Amino acid sequence: MEVNGKVALLTGGVGGIGKCIARALLENGASVVLFDLNNEKGQEFKQQMEAEHGKGRVHFVSGDVTKKEDLERAFKETLEKFSYLDIMLNNAGIGDEKRWEDMININWVALVRGSNEALKIMSKKAGGKGGVIVNTASIAGLMAYTFGPIYAGTKSAVVGFTRSHGA
Ligand SMILES: NC(=O)c1ccc[n+]([C@@H]2O[C@H](COP(=O)([O-])OP(=O)(O)OC[C@H]3O[C@@H](n4cnc5c(N)ncnc54)[C@H](O)[C@@H]3O)[C@@H](O)[C@H]2O)c1
Repeated sequence: MEVNGKVALLTGGVGGIGKCIARALLENGASVVLFDLNNEKGQEFKQQMEAEHGKGRVHFVSGDVTKKEDLERAFKETLEKFSYLDIMLNNAGIGDEKRWEDMININWVALVRGSNEALKIMSKKAGGKGGVIVNTASIAGLMAYTFGPIYAGTKSAVVGFTRSHGA
């Protein structure tokens, strides 16, 4: 996919994988809105990316993907700052069987909400000009994962949801 000139919203944007995705997008000419719970790391990474790629192409939104109002604010700020959304990356996730309800809400419920909100903007059926949704799953969603059955359940849900939309 050609990402040059495109606008991406990335949840879990300052975690290990999120940072790698953000860098790759910026290096290839996209603008990126980073959305993450970790405000300190977010501000720091935003500054670092601006120093490397120039001001105006990175925006950070601090918030919790499980809070509807926070997620909606991320979409609002994306449109205010960049006028459109081309790429939605639902990447925020945790692997903690002890926090299983939080994990279901972060890995699965918020990912569905993020996809639905993105579709409202990007879907050609809704008057948008199209786009791409990328959902971070895991090998644990494709095979038995004895260390984390609930984690595996959330990621299986992500695989089924994404394949079904894709088809
Ligand atoms: N690291 C791996 O080996 C691996 C393997 C397969 C899949 N994954 C998946 O990749 C994704 C990213 O994982 P990672 O390895 O970068 O993890 P990470 O812990 O390094 O980063 C996750 C980021 O998500 C943020 N986050 C957590 N809860 C949040 C919330 N409620 N609202 C907003 N942000 C929140 C954290 O602050 C963090 O910055 C996850 O969905 C994970 O399940 C990771």
